[in-house]
Amino acid sequence: MFEDLRDLYQEVIFDHNRNPRNFRVIDNADRKVEGFNPLCGDRLTLFLKMSGDTIDDASFQGSGCAISTASVSLMTEIIKGKTEAEAEALFKTFHDMTTGKTEELQLEAIGKLAVLAGVRDYPARVKCATLAWHTLDAALKNEVASVSTE
Ligand code: FES
Repeated sequence: MFEDLRDLYQEVIFDHNRNPRNFRVIDNADRKVEGFNPLCGDRLTLFLKMSGDTIDDASFQGSGCAISTASVSLMTEIIKGKTEAEAEALFKTFHDMTTGKTEELQLEAIGKLAVLAGVRDYPARVKCATLAWHTLDAALKNEVASVSTE
């Protein structure tokens, strides 16, 4: 059963890496922030289109490893329609999950993002999974410069 679940999780990561969702530019984006992982040189640009304090649209550009690509692809899907506060709460839950601060998977809160929970056993990959989220955090704080995982 557990092995089946792990296979399913891996399949979701492969799928999002092969066919990233929301891989495009939002021309009239309200927020645009670049995220950078200096350990490997991977970078991405996150675009947000806001409607009041709600994220109307989210997209990204850039190249990264399979985990960072799958993570940003999943993130852009899940944050659409969320308020800034909801997205921040999701960031915190996701961060706690991937850094091992919470052992239990809060499936209701994170949904599909659970596929990335396995990175907590691989410290070098945690930054791959959280790069997109640190970039989102900066975008929500309206920091228009670039953000680094270091
Ligand atoms: Fe660069 Fe994963 S190896 S973000």
